[in-house]
Amino acid sequence: MHHTTPKAAAVLAASLCALPAPAQEPLKIGLMLPYTGTFAGPGDMVEKGFRLFIEEQGGKLGGRAVTFVKVDDESDPSKATDNMNKLVKRDNVDVIVGSVHSGVATAMARVAKESGKLLVVPNAGADAITGPMCAPNIFRTSFSNWQTGYAPGVVAGKKGYKRAMTITWNYAAGNEMVKGFTEAFEKSGGQVIKHLTLPFPNVEFQALLTEIAAQKPEVVYAFFAGGGAVKFVKDYDAAGLKATIPLIGSGFLTDGTLQGQGSSAQGLVTALHYGDGLETPRNTAFRNKFAVTWKANPDVYAVQGYDAAQLLNVGLAAVKGDVGKRDGMVEAMRKATIDSPRGKFTISPQHNPVQDLYIREVKGEYNVVTGVAVKALADAGRGCRM
Ligand code: BEZ
Repeated sequence: MHHTTPKAAAVLAASLCALPAPAQEPLKIGLMLPYTGTFAGPGDMVEKGFRLFIEEQGGKLGGRAVTFVKVDDESDPSKATDNMNKLVKRDNVDVIVGSVHSGVATAMARVAKESGKLLVVPNAGADAITGPMCAPNIFRTSFSNWQTGYAPGVVAGKKGYKRAMTITWNYAAGNEMVKGFTEAFEKSGGQVIKHLTLPFPNVEFQALLTEIAAQKPEVVYAFFAGGGAVKFVKDYDAAGLKATIPLIGSGFLTDGTLQGQGSSAQGLVTALHYGDGLETPRNTAFRNKFAVTWKANPDVYAVQGYDAAQLLNVGLAAVKGDVGKRDGMVEAMRKATIDSPRGKFTISPQHNPVQDLYIREVKGEYNVVTGVAVKALADAGRGCRM
């Protein structure tokens, strides 16, 4: 057994204090996103936005250099638990950022909750993630599906429509957005006469479009995104419906998709927490920087990825890059106000953005913001115990 005299201990302590802090290893970030399939575009944009913010910080987050481990989740929920476990157990990453698809992200949140690994969700809106599955180590910088369904429901109500039909993919995102839309639309005195769905990620819309033509509702609400949204908007137009039955969407319908949709998207009205045509100094600076860096125009997914990096930066800065100080990090992230290209937003007690939902209209190659559908919309986060 060693005995240290009080004097020797004091000398040792003093010399330790004089030592420089040990060099920190780069922060290991797991990026679990879809790089193939109908959400490949959104996945790529999330990563580009995330990397842009880091580049603006000189390649660091919270003063710490970063490295990446990337996984293509293929938007396949059946592979999500294995993919997530690899990042947690094999790669032992410090934090995981992902994903786009609600079913994939729900599986990720389950593993994050069990393992305690820090997870930041940069898109997927599954209500449960900031509801019954909420946890101190799970944050979202995008939206809940309810939020992005509710807002277009408000817009449709304000326009005075009374008979609506809905159409979407039959999975959590589609079903929860339709629920949000229906809630707001019915509050305004409207009625949804029929809900149409097809399996994700199918794009065989013809039979459903024929049904819409037969039912003749006053308005159609749709949620599709990525490659599926491009095809739906073109098919809706080609079926002759655009000219006769107005289409209202969650803004994913026309975000990051306009080049592919061409004239079929012109004039479409949607609601979302971002608009590429938002004319604020913050958004303009972001868009210019993004275009120079990536030779591409950013969309909502890029903004959400950028803000995931911003939120992590706040947490890491509070603990000088020491992710082991989890409580301090989480506290700073909970209190954060993020100066996003979408406008400033705060974090709800359940860790979901509290944010304005804009009304947008497609003009040329932009989703021009024409107003605010709902200010500071907060998801109630029902079922969350933290
Ligand atoms: C989702 O699955 O949560 C989702 C995917 C694309 C856009 C919006 C939501």
